[in-house]
Amino acid sequence: MNPIIVLNNIHKCYPLYHHITGGFRNFLFHMPTAVKQLQNTKFWALQGISFEVNRGETFGVIGRNGAGKSTLLGLIARVMKPTSGTIAINAGKIAPLLELGAGFHVDLTGRENIVLNGMLLGMAKKEITSKLGEIIEFSELHEFIDQPLRIYSSGMLARLGFSVAVHIEPDLLLVDEILAVGDIEFQKKCIDRMLEFKKKNVSIVIVSHSMQDVEKMCDRAAWIENHKVRMIGDAKTVVAAYKGARE
Ligand SMILES: Nc1ncnc2c1ncn2[C@@H]1O[C@H](COP(=O)(O)OP(=O)(O)OP(=O)(O)O)[C@@H](O)[C@H]1O
Ligand SMILES: [Mg+2]
Repeated sequence: MNPIIVLNNIHKCYPLYHHITGGFRNFLFHMPTAVKQLQNTKFWALQGISFEVNRGETFGVIGRNGAGKSTLLGLIARVMKPTSGTIAINAGKIAPLLELGAGFHVDLTGRENIVLNGMLLGMAKKEITSKLGEIIEFSELHEFIDQPLRIYSSGMLARLGFSVAVHIEPDLLLVDEILAVGDIEFQKKCIDRMLEFKKKNVSIVIVSHSMQDVEKMCDRAAWIENHKVRMIGDAKTVVAAYKGARE
């Protein structure tokens, strides 16, 4: 197998923001111990994650709120760096659908954002112009496409993001829980498009709380618990274990 993503012993640490307890005067009095204490308040969102995603595979990431799933996807999308460990991505074009509206500008219209986002994701201006009609049609945003993004609902933002991402013809599609805010018809359309991608050997990583979607689409899945991999394997087996643990 030829992996498209190789994660090797990934750790991610976030600084934590703390109140200065005991008052500022006390803080000054106990310097530099107090400063050291502040610096030591770190939070390890990922603790030793290692796995591979194969080319052409649809891979699910599941786990409870705060487990570290979005952090993991952000690292794969290269929007941030791991504190330690290595990540190798063997993909040309990555389409990251991370949080809602990421990479978009609220003062620009939907149409303008398609152009901006397409270019940020590595499309040539000509390519975007030729696909603009198709992207708008897929989004079904109709007349709202010429309205500024600030008036968009979360479902409308998801529609715009998904429409751009699937039209850049990526090698790797990263989807973080974005389907959840779309209506049933749009969800179905997105899932159908992802199944089409699957047939074309595009690799997909999906973070989802919908076990049904994960079972339906994913070949394998990783269950992240307490910032570590609790289980990894065939999607159905991992989903069953995850559900079992919560009963
Ligand atoms: N920028 C940040 N600074 C500090 N801590 C953060 C930051 N981003 C995330 N965290 C913390 O890291 C942990 C993992 O967060 P993450 O967003 O990856 O969880 P998640 O598995 O995606 O959860 P959810 O299912 O709720 O989306 C959480 O405890 C969160 O509070
Ligand atoms: Mg998340």
